[in-house]
Amino acid sequence: MKLSIANKVPAVDVILIALYEKEKLSADARKLIGTNFAKQADERIKAKDFDGSEGQTLILFDKKQKFTMIGRGKKDKQMPNASEMLGGTMAGLAKKLRAKKAALILDGKDLLQIANGFILGDYEFKHYKKEDAKAPKIVEVTFVTDKNKENLEILKTLNSFQESSALVRTLINIIPSELDPKGFVTESEKVVKNRALTLTVFDEKKLKTMGCGGLIGVGQGAKVGPRMIILEYKNKAKSKNADIVFVGKGVTFDTGGLNLKPSGHIETMKQDMAGAATVLGAMQAIADQKLKGHFVGILVCAENALSDKSVHPGDILQMYNGKTVEVLNTDAEGRLILADGLAYAEKQFKPKMMVNIATLTGAVSVALGYKISGVMGNNKKTTAKILKTAESVDERMWELPLDADFVKATEGNISDLKNISDGMRAGSTMGGAFLSNFVEKTPWAHIDIGGTAWADKPTPTTKYGSTSAGLRTLIELAKTA
Ligand code: BES
Ligand code: ZN
Ligand code: ZN
Repeated sequence: MKLSIANKVPAVDVILIALYEKEKLSADARKLIGTNFAKQADERIKAKDFDGSEGQTLILFDKKQKFTMIGRGKKDKQMPNASEMLGGTMAGLAKKLRAKKAALILDGKDLLQIANGFILGDYEFKHYKKEDAKAPKIVEVTFVTDKNKENLEILKTLNSFQESSALVRTLINIIPSELDPKGFVTESEKVVKNRALTLTVFDEKKLKTMGCGGLIGVGQGAKVGPRMIILEYKNKAKSKNADIVFVGKGVTFDTGGLNLKPSGHIETMKQDMAGAATVLGAMQAIADQKLKGHFVGILVCAENALSDKSVHPGDILQMYNGKTVEVLNTDAEGRLILADGLAYAEKQFKPKMMVNIATLTGAVSVALGYKISGVMGNNKKTTAKILKTAESVDERMWELPLDADFVKATEGNISDLKNISDGMRAGSTMGGAFLSNFVEKTPWAHIDIGGTAWADKPTPTTKYGSTSAGLRTLIELAKTA
């Protein structure tokens, strides 16, 4: 979908505008839509067909095009992410009206938010459904607003977000037999091509010699072995050390292993590589936006399969940093592969900050639901930076505690550590606490997207499937590093 900004309404199939409750069409808006639609709108408002209540829509026609008004509800009672949701609703309406070209009249200051929502709402995953592939697409959307420098800058961000979010969402939606750890290498090669990114891949053999026991242990039950994929980007970097290393969990399918997941919990586990996909998408966006700095993305990829070769409950693995871990539950696998990724990242790149992103726990959705991601870190400043950055790009995150007693509870009985601990509950915190054992001194934060990476129920911006939660935060972290 082509994105553009214009001062006037171009020739389009549908023009959309949103009004708060009791808000009137502004003089500017009336000029933009023309006297015919302005008059029709006045009549409909007078007839009480439309008053801007939340969710209301009014569709008007003339010979050439349609004009749609959408109610935003009370201005002082807006839900979180209301502008983004509105953008998603607008995309949904434009598609329902079979518009190839749409124009959004935006009076306010929320171009970025509405456009983000429009992009997310426009996304469709059509690989496996023939009918969907034939459905009409929006080919161009014009945001009708000031064509000033600031907005043109926003347009660049939007173009990059459109590409990277679609990449992330498609990778998550693709089935695991089409995207195994080797497939992730192929996808990474595609991203690196024609971009200022370098790629390094460690295969199973290399990982063994490196001592990455976490990746090897988790991946050993699958036909296709584990991979560590490293993307590096350097542009006018001030130091040899990385500004940020992003580490993403890439479990291409999580059966749970010998601690097999039951029905109701296993069906959507192709999403378990969302962290790695998000890191890949962020690296793509960083390169496309030519951000300044030295950034590294590490994708730790493995399939947590069930076979006669799978790691056993009770097995003890030796990790990249030398620590031994008793695998008391083979379903707590994400922390095992991230442990290797984080320890390697710290040693190799001595970064100023490390951020990992992972569908680490189901428990995070018990605490925070499906819209808010959990954040933990080894110091207040880093966690605060993540939360502030997330807020600045309208992604919802909330801090969970990572106190010393939780870390203490990860100590092993006959090994240095164990991957689960009983009696503590706090499943998400325990996941974060385990990871903290693999970071020595680098400021580090862990983002748990276990509740947010995937949507079972549709919203204006997500259908059934992936969401790209966390992507904007990672990109913005790099922008403000
Ligand atoms: N991949 C899952 C977490 C998950 C669950 C992500 C649902 C998205 C939706 C993870 O590997 C896992 O199974 N975690 C367990 C940990 C437990 C065994 C300590 C969990 O959260 O139940
Ligand atoms: Zn698991
Ligand atoms: Zn998992």
